[in-house]
Amino acid sequence: MLPVRANSLTAMKLLNLDHVGIAVRDLDHALDTYRERYRVEPLYREIVEAQGVEEAMIPVGGSFVQLLQPLAGDTPVGRFLESRGEGLHHIAFVVSSVDDALDHLREEGARLVDETARPGGRGTRIAFVHPADLAGTLIELVELPND
Ligand code: CO
Repeated sequence: MLPVRANSLTAMKLLNLDHVGIAVRDLDHALDTYRERYRVEPLYREIVEAQGVEEAMIPVGGSFVQLLQPLAGDTPVGRFLESRGEGLHHIAFVVSSVDDALDHLREEGARLVDETARPGGRGTRIAFVHPADLAGTLIELVELPND
């Protein structure tokens, strides 16, 4: 038991706050607001079909603000906007391995949104943990590409 436990702890440790995800209705408008009010620029924007969003990543220190505009109403972020309106959607942490982190969370009985990793932006692998699992906060686990 002990080796498994030690292994899980290593795999699960959160390494960095990668980004804070914010749902917006109009990505261009949100970017203009960030630019004008806070003097920050996106590093890039891209369409992530797997998540049904166009996203822009604004670097702030060692982390990002991720602005998410849904590609359609019938997507997770589209449904979020419909029911909750614009605002904080999720927070994302870097882990060394999403697969190992999911194994660990399953052992812990955590309620997962994703049973397996899926593609995120920037060539990352990601998985979401259900907000019911931690104080109503949707958690995204991010494995950065090896480059
Ligand atoms: Co995200």
